[in-house]
Amino acid sequence: MSYAETYERWKQDPEGFWMEAAQAIDWVKAPTRALNADNAPLYTWYADGLVNTCHNAVDRHVEAGRGAQTAIIYDSPITQTKHKISYAELRSRVASLAGALRAKGVEKGDRVIIYMPMVPEALEAMLACARLGAVHSVVFGGFAANELAVRIDDCKPKAIIAASCGLEPGRVVHYKPLLDGALELSTHQPDFCVIFQREQEVAYLEEGRDVDWHGFQYGVDPAECVPVEGDHPAYILYTSGTTGAPKGVVRATGGHLVALNWTMKNIYNVEPGDVFWAASDVGWVVGHSYICYGPLIHGNTTIVFEGKPVGTPDAGTFWRVISEHGVKSFFTAPTAIRAVKREDPEGKFTKPYDLSCLKTLYLAGERADPDTIEWAQRILNVPVIDHWWQTETGYAIAANPMGIDPLPVKIGSPSVAMPGYDVQILDEAGHPMKPGELGAIAIKLPLPPGTLPNLWNAEERFRKSYLDHFPGYYETGDAGMKDEDGYLWIMARTDDVINVAGHRLSTGAMEEVLASHPDVAECAVIGVTDQLKGQVPVGFLCLTKGVNRPEGEITAECVKLVRDRIGPVAAFKLAVVVDRLPKTRSGKILRATMIKIADSEEFKMPATIDDPAILDEIKTALQTIGYAK
Ligand code: COA
Ligand code: AMP
Repeated sequence: MSYAETYERWKQDPEGFWMEAAQAIDWVKAPTRALNADNAPLYTWYADGLVNTCHNAVDRHVEAGRGAQTAIIYDSPITQTKHKISYAELRSRVASLAGALRAKGVEKGDRVIIYMPMVPEALEAMLACARLGAVHSVVFGGFAANELAVRIDDCKPKAIIAASCGLEPGRVVHYKPLLDGALELSTHQPDFCVIFQREQEVAYLEEGRDVDWHGFQYGVDPAECVPVEGDHPAYILYTSGTTGAPKGVVRATGGHLVALNWTMKNIYNVEPGDVFWAASDVGWVVGHSYICYGPLIHGNTTIVFEGKPVGTPDAGTFWRVISEHGVKSFFTAPTAIRAVKREDPEGKFTKPYDLSCLKTLYLAGERADPDTIEWAQRILNVPVIDHWWQTETGYAIAANPMGIDPLPVKIGSPSVAMPGYDVQILDEAGHPMKPGELGAIAIKLPLPPGTLPNLWNAEERFRKSYLDHFPGYYETGDAGMKDEDGYLWIMARTDDVINVAGHRLSTGAMEEVLASHPDVAECAVIGVTDQLKGQVPVGFLCLTKGVNRPEGEITAECVKLVRDRIGPVAAFKLAVVVDRLPKTRSGKILRATMIKIADSEEFKMPATIDDPAILDEIKTALQTIGYAK
């Protein structure tokens, strides 16, 4: 069946389409219907089914006789370690960990925070939660203690599972002290913490609260899979919104299983047993969907890679991993490819490796620029597929369905809407726009299975952020257009979210931190174009009257403050002092104009600007840090 036929089949009969897709999942009790719209515009999927994620991701493959197949390959150029875990081993490791969690009181519906680096134990912790019907929330290691504390207070975990440390090139990330710091800041306290001691740094365990990963599993009975309702939350993943408070995106169990399984063949074109690799981090949605759940649910082999595209040890690392482990489909962020291209423009580092196993490279997380796509196509000699999605959706909204019917690639476009998504370009008043016209990208409700049904404990915010602006639609927060052939073109965010090295960050959150500096009276943070990371944040600081310390001292303190409060992942390294910020007469900061000036782009003087002379001052300040040429 062609893509067009598949999409039409879904459009004509969404219920039938998703009930059929659900048959690929093992249900304890099969759902009698897919969509429940009783509470529209809030929707649930497969709500009357009973199912367990861990059973589908692990046990069922063992029961089907594939226990000896490798489930996880751990490849860590940072620690020079490699090992493989079969599905059978994975089942016993996860059942034992789940048994130990259960023995300490973790039950269906309890939240568990996971704060771990790229080690297989991170996936095992996620799967152990899923086995019990506990709701995990993985926190990315590049966030600071304060961000961890905010998540602890929001989801109130019964337990926290952490590693003693993470490893960045040339630097040990002290997870345990960060965890201890977070628990000092948070009001909520978990009943206990499980610490996975890595040999690179053994952490101090606090008696009565912390238990050792291995020690607490001693002598416990392994846990069986606990069936949960199809709409039971599988996990919460926090993502950046407009303000400093992150949004807790909820993923419901049944839809997550059905949708991810569907994507593995239809989008990524892998068969069970094939090796699939997403070079991301378990702390992001790509890691949830395509390092852990998608490949395992579908019976693939997944790779846990603890390294960077360059420097661990060189720009050939990706190619080594692909050839050594026989990767068929590879998924990473454009920024990672840009980093490799910068070090190895000729693609010499591919030469020592036989890359014939690789059939397709997939890119997502940020806009894939044509140069990067063309370069990757040239040196790898495989199709490079851009696809567009968000933490909220959990999988691609638009892609090129390589396993159904590869469509012609239009470089710069993530191709077409996937079945389940009716994507529309709307004007401010919510009217559909013509092909080629730029507008807000919205998706007609209901969103398909596997997408967020709500935000954790924040239904009002969910409605306000996504549903209220365009009634009957989900507002993606992206702007763009659709061409005559139905290809989407994603141009920019419509909110204050920026994308730094494929990481989604809130400029509002950074502004909140900067505003807390005693010498800062007012501030603004914008995302400016960066050759490597796509965007980087730049802070503008207006100082409190009477402050006459050296500006460099204050900007350095502000940079440190953001790193300490949000974390190194914010990549906030540029701040300048200005007298005033450009504003409209009603007091709104003209961020879009500031971005254009920074990126040396033409701009139209905003009609509502209060004092145009301020723009010259902004330009001069930006020139001091190498922008606004
Ligand atoms: N734990 C702790 N710190 C982390 C971290 C983690 N898991 N991941 C990143 N950091 C730190 C980095 O060490 C860096 O710190 P520094 O300021 O001391 O150098 C900072 O956070 C910024 O990280 P990042 O923006 O990722 O840049 P980088 O210097 O680590 O290099 C590139 C990243 C340029 C190689 C980039 O191409 C890349 O691969 N980024 C990751 C892309 C990705 O996987 N995105 C996920 C979406 S699919
Ligand atoms: P995240 O939730 O971190 O995955 O970030 C989602 C956002 O990243 C989207 O809303 C887009 O702004 C951006 N994004 C993701 N993939 C793409 C893509 N292929 N092209 C352009 N932007 C993308």
